[in-house]
Amino acid sequence: MKKGVKFILFVVLIVLAGFGMNNLANKSSVYKSSSKPSLKPTVKPPSKLAFNTKLYSHTDPTSIWVMVNKKNPLNPIDYAPSDLVVPNVPLRVPGNQTMQMRRIAADALQAMFLAAKADTINLMLASGYRSYSYQTTLYNFYVKTQGQAVADTQSARPGYSEHQTGLAADVEPVSRTCEVALCFALTPEGKWLASNSYRYGFIIRYPQNGQAITGYEYEPWHIRYIGVAAATAMHNQGVLTLEQFFNYPAAPSY
Ligand code: DAL
Ligand code: ZN
Repeated sequence: MKKGVKFILFVVLIVLAGFGMNNLANKSSVYKSSSKPSLKPTVKPPSKLAFNTKLYSHTDPTSIWVMVNKKNPLNPIDYAPSDLVVPNVPLRVPGNQTMQMRRIAADALQAMFLAAKADTINLMLASGYRSYSYQTTLYNFYVKTQGQAVADTQSARPGYSEHQTGLAADVEPVSRTCEVALCFALTPEGKWLASNSYRYGFIIRYPQNGQAITGYEYEPWHIRYIGVAAATAMHNQGVLTLEQFFNYPAAPSY
């Protein structure tokens, strides 16, 4: 064989050998990667921290997670709790039925008011439990004085009020500054309540900019007990309304 031909043959052999090795390497790397356990997660992490919002009933009126809004009345409509107590806190109208709450919510209210006091914030219970018939009188008064359209943005109809569950409370300063009024949000007491109530299991149930969902104007004084775990999860997730947190549709009207 001529020298030149030999050289070309040599080069061709080298190239072919290289191709073979590559192929083998590719095959073995495929084999290796499929046999190795992957360190990458196979499922995407949830977009928000997981919290089981289905743990308790949303329809049982005795549940701390009962959903009460304009689309979800209490069932039975004249439900009355069986464990009402008077919390050991400053009371707006001592002796009145509205100075009661369900035991679990009353205990939480007491703990919260004590913590507030330690921060030189003096809170008072303005209105807690309201029976079906009490709410009837109240709602009718609103309708008479303001007309039904306005009344429906400020007062729940009987059977549709969280106050009837014994889990809600209207809170005000002991001084009665901005009593059940929007300016309560600007008082030290209102600010403290907004910042700290979740730690005791309460939420501001009718928040600012929430009317399209809740159907009610901003009520910085109205708190609803849902338990510390749920209130903290809602706070940490930055969720505005209970409807959104519990995955319920907006309920702006009846
Ligand atoms: N003010 C609230 C909406 C109630 O009447 O229950
Ligand atoms: Zn209220």
